[in-house]
Amino acid sequence: MSAIAISPIDRAVRFYEAPIGKKAVMALTGVILFGYVIAHLLGNLQIYASSPDQINRYAAFLHNPANTIPLWAARTFLLVAVLLHITASVQLWLQNRTARPIGYVKKNDVPASYAARTMIWSGPIVGAFIVFHVLHLTVGAVLKLEDVGGNPTTPDVYHNVISGFQNYGVSAFYIIAMILLCTHLYHGIWSMFQSMGINHPRYTPLLKKGAAIVAILIAIGNCSIPIAVMAGLLHL
Ligand code: HEM
Repeated sequence: MSAIAISPIDRAVRFYEAPIGKKAVMALTGVILFGYVIAHLLGNLQIYASSPDQINRYAAFLHNPANTIPLWAARTFLLVAVLLHITASVQLWLQNRTARPIGYVKKNDVPASYAARTMIWSGPIVGAFIVFHVLHLTVGAVLKLEDVGGNPTTPDVYHNVISGFQNYGVSAFYIIAMILLCTHLYHGIWSMFQSMGINHPRYTPLLKKGAAIVAILIAIGNCSIPIAVMAGLLHL
């Protein structure tokens, strides 16, 4: 009997069709998005520098016409990562529901932490936040954005962030979204290790603690900016 040859594409499709394939896509895209969240936070923390020029110079570097191609390549890469992350999560959720239509009798049977149960709606709310956020501080559809010297390639990020957060409703929305992002990252990080088979009575609690610390530090860093503006510590 001759063996049936399976092409690498068929193999990849079969791998993706199984839950572990979708989890692998979620983990890989999750790591990429996590990296962006850290890099973006480090960039944003420059708002605490002694001069507004610091963060504005950073924005001018990103928007420099010489960097247009890398900037759009990075944006496209991130957008593809977001779309794959969402697609795999929805497919996984549908697959789990089909496999288990009645649901668990006791909610506590499977990763039952508060963060795990909120994954399904913290994800969409963080997604909605990102759409609002880009319209708010990148596109200028919510807030009139200022440039340095009237040049659109040198946005006055210092001014835009502070005037944006002087609106308490907007700041409250950001803070809620950052807290949800924190629960999403916490669960995402440690469940990624579980999907990778790193599950040990001794190490899993440590991983969970590490994931919680990282997620909370990110939330503190992000929330500190609207809070500092509302408290008058950052002002125009
Ligand atoms: C208080 C927290 C945050 C502040 C102050 C902030 C600030 C900003 C600013 C000023 C921009 C425009 C940058 C520019 O035009 O050069 C921006 C863009 C963006 N931010 Fe944030 N951000 C925050 C949190 C987040 C979080 C948590 C995420 C993701 C979960 C995020 C995702 C993005 C994305 C995707 C863009 C568009 C980037 C682009 O235009 O290429 N931001 N942010």
